[in-house]
Amino acid sequence: MRILVTGGAGFIGSNLIHYLLATRPDVEIVNLDKLTYAGNLQNLEDLPDARRHTFLRGDVAEPDDVARAFGAGVDQVFHLAAESHVDRSILDSRAFIHSNVLGTQTLIDRLRRQGHGRLVHVSTDEVYGSLGPAGRFTETSPLDPTSPYAASKAASDLLVLAAVKTHGLDAVVTRCSNNYGPYQFPEKLIPLMITNALEDRPLPVYGDGRQVRDWIHVRDHCAALEVVSREGRRGEIYNIGGVGGERENLVIVRTILAALGKSAALIRHVQDRPAHDRRYAICSDRVLGLGWRGQFDLEAGLRETVRWYQEHRAWWEAVKSGAYRSYYEQQYGKRLG
Ligand code: NAD
Ligand code: DAU
Repeated sequence: MRILVTGGAGFIGSNLIHYLLATRPDVEIVNLDKLTYAGNLQNLEDLPDARRHTFLRGDVAEPDDVARAFGAGVDQVFHLAAESHVDRSILDSRAFIHSNVLGTQTLIDRLRRQGHGRLVHVSTDEVYGSLGPAGRFTETSPLDPTSPYAASKAASDLLVLAAVKTHGLDAVVTRCSNNYGPYQFPEKLIPLMITNALEDRPLPVYGDGRQVRDWIHVRDHCAALEVVSREGRRGEIYNIGGVGGERENLVIVRTILAALGKSAALIRHVQDRPAHDRRYAICSDRVLGLGWRGQFDLEAGLRETVRWYQEHRAWWEAVKSGAYRSYYEQQYGKRLG
C-alpha cells in the first residue's frame, strides 16, 4: 500500500510516520513537506525501517509538487500539512489561507484526477469555537471558528465534505483536540513551558490561565488516524479527544514545573490572546465505535514528555535559535515587558 503523508516533518506528521512504519508492515510512505519553520527532518532521523519512507520537499498548494508526490499513484493520503499555530495566525494569516485552504483543494483536485484513493483530512476541534462550563463538542456541533487558523481549517473541512458530495471523493475528516508529546514545536503551550522552565525563563500564561483544553497524547491521535483510515465511513467526521484529558492551563503548567522541580515563581500572567477560546472538550463516541481506544493517562504522558525534552536538549535548542527568536520577541516581548 502506497501512502502519502503531507506535513510529515512536523510534530504529528512525524509521529504518524513513526507509528505507521512500526505498526503497518504493508505500507510504503511518501512524505511531502515544505519544511517551513515547523518542519524538521531531525524528527525523522530514527525511523524504524526507514527504507519504506521517501521524503519529498514541496508545497501541498503547488499542483506540480503534489503530482510529483503522487507519482504512479497513492492508495491513501493522510493530510496534515498546515500552518498550525493560532498566535501566528493572529499576527499574519496569509500563509494559513495558502497552505490550509488552497493546499487542501490542491490535494482534492489531484485525487479527483487519479479517480481513486482515500483522503484522511486531519482537522481540529478549534473549528467548533468555544464551550461554556458544561457540554462537549460532537460532530454535529455548529462551526464557530474564532481565529484565522480555526477559520482556515473549517474552510478546508467544508471543501473536503463538499467534494465527497459533488465528486464522490472518498474522504473522512478527523477533528482532534490538543496534542502533546515528542517533537512538538516549542511555540505550543506544553513544549514552550517545559523548555522555558529548563532555561529558567518566565512562563507566559495568557490571562487568568483558567482556560481548559482536552489533552491527548500524539501517539493516541496517530492510532486513531490509522483506525479511521481503515474503518471510517466515507464522508463522515470523527472527533478525537483525550482520555480524561481536560485540564486548566495553569494545572498543566504547575504539573510541568513540579516534574522539573522548578519554582512556580517562573509563572507570569500576561496579556490574553484575542478571542481566546475558554474551553474545549470532546465527545469521542463515534471514533470509539470504530474500535479505537486511547492508551495514555495524561499525568504519565506529561511526565514522559517532560523527560523527552530533558533528554533532547540539542533538538529544541537548535529549534529555538534563529527565526524563533524574532517570533518570540514579537509574540512575548511586550507581554513580558
Ligand atoms: P506542525 O506545525 O508541527 O507541522 C506542520 C507541518 O506541515 C510542518 O512540517 C510544515 O513544514 C508542513 N507544511 C506547512 N505548510 C505546508 C505546505 N504548504 N506544503 C507542505 N508542507 C507544509 O503542525 P502539527 O501540530 O503537527 O499539526 C499537523 C496537522 O494536525 C495540522 O493540519 C493541524 O491543523 C492538525 N491538528 C493539530 C493539533 C495539535 O494539537 N497540534 C490538533 C488537531 C489537529
Ligand atoms: O485544539 C486543537 C488545537 O490545539 C490545534 O488545532 C492547534 O494546531 C494547536 O496549536 C492547539 O491550539 P491551541 O491554541 O489550543 O494550543 P496552544 O498550545 O497555542 O495553547 C494551548 C492553551 O495555552 C491555550 O489556552 C492558550 C494557552 N497559552 C498558549 C501559549 C502558547 C498560554 O497561556 N501561553 C502561551 O504562551
